[in-house]
Amino acid sequence: MSSNVEQRAALVAAARAAREQAYAPYSRFAVGAAVLDEQGRIHAGCNVENAAYPQGWCAEASALAALVLAGGRRVLAVAVCGIADDPVTPCGGCRQKLREFAADDCPIWIVDNERLRATHSLGELLPHSFGPRHLTP
Ligand code: THU
Repeated sequence: MSSNVEQRAALVAAARAAREQAYAPYSRFAVGAAVLDEQGRIHAGCNVENAAYPQGWCAEASALAALVLAGGRRVLAVAVCGIADDPVTPCGGCRQKLREFAADDCPIWIVDNERLRATHSLGELLPHSFGPRHLTP
């Protein structure tokens, strides 16, 4: 069983590696994301843009698709890697996508290639959110 520190390092490394694979010929803004599932597995993804711009999708969406495909159903931690003056936090749509699988206290580590830039919980980024429980009678 790896320690929390090791898990965070692995998650950050996976997000950085995923960013290297980004397909972002239009924005040239590469993003990588990695999510830790309930079995301790890491799933990563990158943004995938499209000539029909709105059809592109975010790194977080790719990572969640990999999680679901692998049978994961919970997200216990998230790392996002992007390079900008401000920390590259998940967009609004991705906060909601993460909410499907993560609790309010889920940590989201925002990194660039050198350092940790910010740490937030999902509940901080998406307060008073709508989630699966709303649909449970
Ligand atoms: N992007 C992500 O992949 N994740 C985010 O949370 C923010 C934005 C991508 C989408 C697009 O390909 C590029 O960054 C510029 O917006």
